[in-house]
Amino acid sequence: MFDLIVKGGTLPDGRVADIGIRGDRIAAVDRLDGAEAGQVIHANGDLVSPPFVDPHFHMDATLSYGIPRINQSGTLLEGITLWGELKQVTTIDEMKARALAYCDWAVSMGLLAIRSHVDTCDPELKGVQALLDVRETVRPYLDLQLVAFPQDGLYRDPQARDQTLRALDMGVDVVGGIPHFERTMEEGRASVTDLCRIAAERGLPIDLHCDETDDPMSRHIETLAAEVIRYGLQGRATGSHLTSMHSMDNYYVSKLLPLIAEAEIAALPNPLINIVIQGRHDTFPKRRGLTRVKELRAYGVTVGWGQDCVLDPWYPLGTADMLDVAFMGLHVAQMTHPDEMRACFDMVTTENARIMGLNGYGFEPGDMASLVVLDAAHPVEALRLRASRLWVISKGNLVAQNPRDTARLVLPGRPEQVDRRL
Ligand code: FE2
Repeated sequence: MFDLIVKGGTLPDGRVADIGIRGDRIAAVDRLDGAEAGQVIHANGDLVSPPFVDPHFHMDATLSYGIPRINQSGTLLEGITLWGELKQVTTIDEMKARALAYCDWAVSMGLLAIRSHVDTCDPELKGVQALLDVRETVRPYLDLQLVAFPQDGLYRDPQARDQTLRALDMGVDVVGGIPHFERTMEEGRASVTDLCRIAAERGLPIDLHCDETDDPMSRHIETLAAEVIRYGLQGRATGSHLTSMHSMDNYYVSKLLPLIAEAEIAALPNPLINIVIQGRHDTFPKRRGLTRVKELRAYGVTVGWGQDCVLDPWYPLGTADMLDVAFMGLHVAQMTHPDEMRACFDMVTTENARIMGLNGYGFEPGDMASLVVLDAAHPVEALRLRASRLWVISKGNLVAQNPRDTARLVLPGRPEQVDRRL
């Protein structure tokens, strides 16, 4: 007897199986003919995947587009200035309301785990207070992990270091930083060492906004790799963005890639944001700033895709759809071979889950009963269609449903309904 059975779904590896759920756990992945269940969902060959995961987001800023004004230049630096204006005027309650609204969008898109950076450069730590509260509110259906992020620079803002430590004391999960925004390369380098020491002392993961610039001499990733090895943080560190690697000299990168692999640092590009924020000072050719995804993967580095921003001071679009993120990443990284397209789907599911260190993620008996049924037959079709999330199950409960994506045609001699699946 199961609480819920998802019948006849196609798993990402191509197997067709029934998934039996008891409580909040997967109890069986098999043919479950004749088994009884409180509820049955008929997937009938539709793709059934573990949920989408986003390891890079800014939930304290989301859904604030236009408050108090829009970003005129489109640059990272004006976005940081604008965020500085917004955080003066916004309240904890407003931040919570926007974050919860975003979590609703995420659940509707089958996105059930998010790592959000939270700005610690506010003497009241309003964002930290708001998101710690939101983390508890959404815990029954969404795993929210928080990164203590000194947006204005660990040293550039004189209060930031103390406040970042205070945020960690309050229960924020991950150590963050922004070395390329410190006043000098030297201070950036020192901040990386300092933050790695803090992560090691506290036994926490570390996830730095690292080299989010077109400057090929921004090489904080090299320092991060060396310090991760020195402090024994292998497998617990993430380099977010790494856009300067797009512009680096190839010889230097040939030394850097094995160093990143040795340090077991995960790489986390954010394609929607990288391609609109980077290259703003270029004429033509105009760089797109995406890090070297295929090359990192070839060295065995874990690479995910992050969303980063939705309707905030840096980005005027977005819907919490990780298929949109993977779709854009696939194009910009030119990952059009079937194996590479398939990898792009894994990057927003299993690879991102590995970066967040999620336990019980997947389809083994005993894993968390969280999954999404997609209006597609296989992962690449899901990407092509940005397929509708027909049913979303979180921790054993049905939490969202969406209709199939079909359209009615009004054409003489043609079918009345068009289905874009093949
Ligand atoms: Fe970010």
